[in-house]
Amino acid sequence: MDTLRYQIEYYRARAVEYDEWFYRIGRYDQGQALNQQWFDEAAICMENLHSLGPVNTALELAAGTGIWTRELHKIADHITVLDSSPESLDINREKLGNPDNVTFQEADLFNWEPDSQYDLVSFTFWLSHVPPDEVDPFLAKVYRATKPGGKVWMVDSRKASTSTASNQSVETRDVLQTRSLNDGRVFEIVKIYYQPDELREIFERNGFSVEVHTTNTYFIYAIATR
Ligand SMILES: C[S@@+](CC[C@H](N)C(=O)[O-])C[C@H]1O[C@@H](n2cnc3c(N)ncnc32)[C@H](O)[C@@H]1O
Repeated sequence: MDTLRYQIEYYRARAVEYDEWFYRIGRYDQGQALNQQWFDEAAICMENLHSLGPVNTALELAAGTGIWTRELHKIADHITVLDSSPESLDINREKLGNPDNVTFQEADLFNWEPDSQYDLVSFTFWLSHVPPDEVDPFLAKVYRATKPGGKVWMVDSRKASTSTASNQSVETRDVLQTRSLNDGRVFEIVKIYYQPDELREIFERNGFSVEVHTTNTYFIYAIATR
């Protein structure tokens, strides 16, 4: 599917400016009050992730520039970090200070097969970019990558107009969303805003028990148990 290749290219090109979104910089700056709300809600999610530790082994899928790898690193003895963007992996490695206990690996998750099982598998702001017909195959791989009794943790976006750049819309057409880079290049990527019930159903039909939570405006997060 061309969209998946396109999505890889978009995130490769976006790697150097990706953190501006999370840290509310430049065109993602929504003003002091909304920025603070964003950070407060993100802190609730981070606390939830921390509550799963300590763990021995963790796998982070589509880890990007390491915003959440850094949080995972606080609770995991070893992390395997996968992403299709070598640019993002470089930033991630640098952000963490190139630690010995993190293995970075370039991988296309749609052509990846787990070869190990982990205590904790996490993916953040990733499931929303998985096309509907790839969701079950992806979750089946996550299941195989999780130790029996192990946990899966995820966080993703709720649909909120102030979650994105001031010159960008959160609207989607047939699960596709238009995104632009700082230099004006435009891409179309998959973006799905899951409701809690939908997310619960996805995990349960793939063999997990799951708890799904939302923050007031910005985030939806889940802890699943294999
Ligand atoms: C929205 S970003 C999330 C990054 C990170 N998890 C975070 O929360 O900051 C999506 C990530 O998925 C990666 N990605 C896109 N397509 C991929 C694929 N087919 N396989 C692996 N990673 C992919 C991108 O390179 C990017 O780092």
